[in-house]
Amino acid sequence: MRVLLFTGKGGVGKTTTAAATAVQSARRGHKTLVLSTDPAHSLADAFGVELEHEPTEIEPGLYGQQVDTQRAFEDSWREVQHYLRDVLEAGGVDPLEAEELTVLPGADEVLALLELRAQAESGRWDVLVVDCAPTAETLRLLALPEALSWYMERVFPRERRLVRSLRPVLSQLAGLPMPPDKVFAAVERLHAELSEVRALLVDPSTTSVRLVLTPEAVVVAEARRTLTSLSLYGYRVDGVVANRVMPFGSQDPWMQGWVAAQRKQLDGIATSFGTTPVWLSSYQPNEPVGVEPLAALAAQLYADVDPLAVNETEDPLVVERVSSDEFVLSVALPHADKRTVDLVRKGDELVLTVGSHRRVLALPSVLRRCVVDGAGLRDGALRVRFRPDPDVWMRA
Ligand SMILES: Nc1ncnc2c1ncn2[C@@H]1O[C@H](COP(=O)(O)OP(=O)(O)O)[C@@H](O)[C@H]1O
Ligand SMILES: [Mg+2]
Repeated sequence: MRVLLFTGKGGVGKTTTAAATAVQSARRGHKTLVLSTDPAHSLADAFGVELEHEPTEIEPGLYGQQVDTQRAFEDSWREVQHYLRDVLEAGGVDPLEAEELTVLPGADEVLALLELRAQAESGRWDVLVVDCAPTAETLRLLALPEALSWYMERVFPRERRLVRSLRPVLSQLAGLPMPPDKVFAAVERLHAELSEVRALLVDPSTTSVRLVLTPEAVVVAEARRTLTSLSLYGYRVDGVVANRVMPFGSQDPWMQGWVAAQRKQLDGIATSFGTTPVWLSSYQPNEPVGVEPLAALAAQLYADVDPLAVNETEDPLVVERVSSDEFVLSVALPHADKRTVDLVRKGDELVLTVGSHRRVLALPSVLRRCVVDGAGLRDGALRVRFRPDPDVWMRA
């Protein structure tokens, strides 16, 4: 099975490109589902058909799905939401306000991801194409399983029996309701499922992220930042789509101005993304809506390359032993600005911050017994040096 995620700034053509790629994939004989995690339901508009919460056949071998997150939310999160509401109300929060506070931010996208997992598990599909929400949301969503792990270990301790026996005492003391078992169960299930989603999304043999952009300075700048954050979270971008490229050869000065400006950006893109393939699609004379216009767009975009091929990428995270008493942990962070990168060691974890994005990295066991000896950002990678902690190694 193959999973392709399309992301990028709003309006650049993510939905169009995802749909076009799905059409080509299906016509090459792969049973393909394209689904959208973007609450703005534009996938149906791109195909010019109605799409349902269940996969809907668009043409033979090609299915589309518009995840109805409201419905999924009601089913899976109700227990937890009730509990949170009780806690807030017991804490003196106005019931109406409590209701509002328990609507999880980003729940839409989380549920769309769970649907992706369900479809991946179903065994029905050769290819899953995902039309993601715009850049910021996608990043938050992709980081969620790991962030939730962190939260789970602290808020819902693994040894729940202890909590259970303390429950009556605690609820009397604090006047707060303790979470009932079914809440624990619901949170645990959610956590397990999200961990599976994450495992699927970082599996290099299955999943690639494709970054969609238009050759404009503002869009390219954001795409570069997206590449940095995706790498931070361990996702692999193995292709860039430059969409809405102005056709060359016009005599019109206004058009010539755009062509020249785009040319400059395209040159920059070629250097920014190193060896990652960059595919171009031109500004069509009208909106590419419907299966045939999408097929034509894909044909132009990919020419004779296979859009489903896994293109080589750097490993996002590598641990090397560089000498008998030195290890180096490298995290790929292309285009990261040194001034925005921060690193803190907390016990067995490394908290890595790049701008507004943070990843809590559980250290591999060999590094847990080491101390951080220094770190530097070079050639698009953060290299953290570790030396064995004499105290720990002596005792071991
Ligand atoms: N190559 C193109 N030429 C002309 N119009 C395009 C092209 N790519 C996308 N569009 C149109 O641009 C608009 C935004 O595209 P869309 O795929 O919905 O962007 P996103 O999903 O990134 O927000 C849509 O109306 C779409 O039909
Ligand atoms: Mg879209």
